[in-house]
Amino acid sequence: MQKTVILTGDRATGPLHLGHYAGTLKNRVALQGTHEQYLLIANMQALTDHAGRTGLVRDAVLEIALDYLAVGIDPDRTVICLQSGLPALAELSMLYLNLVTVSRLERIPTIREEIASRGFGRAVPAGFLSYPVAQAADITAFRAELVPVGADQAPLIELTNEIARRVNALAGETVLPEARALIPEAGRLPAPDGRGKMSKSAGTALPLSAGPDQISAFVRSMYTDPGHLRASDPGRVEGNVVFAYLDAFDPDRTEVARIKAHYRAGGLGDRAIKRRLEDLLQELIRPIRERREVFARDPAQVIKILRRGTERADQLTSETRSRVFTALRVGET
Ligand code: TRP
Repeated sequence: MQKTVILTGDRATGPLHLGHYAGTLKNRVALQGTHEQYLLIANMQALTDHAGRTGLVRDAVLEIALDYLAVGIDPDRTVICLQSGLPALAELSMLYLNLVTVSRLERIPTIREEIASRGFGRAVPAGFLSYPVAQAADITAFRAELVPVGADQAPLIELTNEIARRVNALAGETVLPEARALIPEAGRLPAPDGRGKMSKSAGTALPLSAGPDQISAFVRSMYTDPGHLRASDPGRVEGNVVFAYLDAFDPDRTEVARIKAHYRAGGLGDRAIKRRLEDLLQELIRPIRERREVFARDPAQVIKILRRGTERADQLTSETRSRVFTALRVGET
């Protein structure tokens, strides 16, 4: 039985954080047992909004590879690869750019929002506006059938499938399969102040390399219910950041339900719920941090893993490129 091909990527703009762990990394560790999984460190896509910061992108590549290995991604079961080492992605992008209009790209909601939030206006880099096309090249080059992405990225999978259908129609045969987005059930983790989501750019992220004091300070800074002044007061669970995290990480659902009821009724202080959460996060992050430190001491080994994965991915993606170019009678392949 052929395993389903699954591809995920991460823009190489910095180390990953607890929000990534809850939203996708944990799931990727599970999927490597059942799927043919590829993880793409998207350093070229990172340049679409970090063109002047190539050093930062370069450093982020190693950080992300360390994060993968630290959470339990097994390079013998998951292919970890680097986007810049896969020329077929760039070649397919060049082809696909001719199959998509600028107005189609401008209509993608997440692109509109990202252009607005970065203040690009009309001065948007052409590479940024067309990163969805490059991402379509990533997905189709791996012939990925499943693509785990956040809900905001679902329209990019639609665009990918439009391009795949267009290629197939032009070729008169099915060269490229269509892909399905795999959207995580759990929403994104809130920032500790409850305003917005955990995000590195907003300075609200807890890195996977966080030490005990940093974890402790992070939990202490969490907003609970502003109306819950004394432990004896009834408290609100909805919108309470500590409970959002307990929901995401506490495996003992029955106990969480009991604690929520107690908190609502009054008699349970913020200190107690924070202590429970802190213990959980310390236990969760400690082994990740320790594994990360072990790999960080041997960067040559990590680079070897990346090289090996990139070579495997190069074979697969080059083959797809050849199939597409041949089917469309582009070039000599
Ligand atoms: N756009 C994704 C992000 O911002 C990264 C990415 C690049 C990706 N190529 C991909 C995700 C291919 C899934 C499939 O994190």
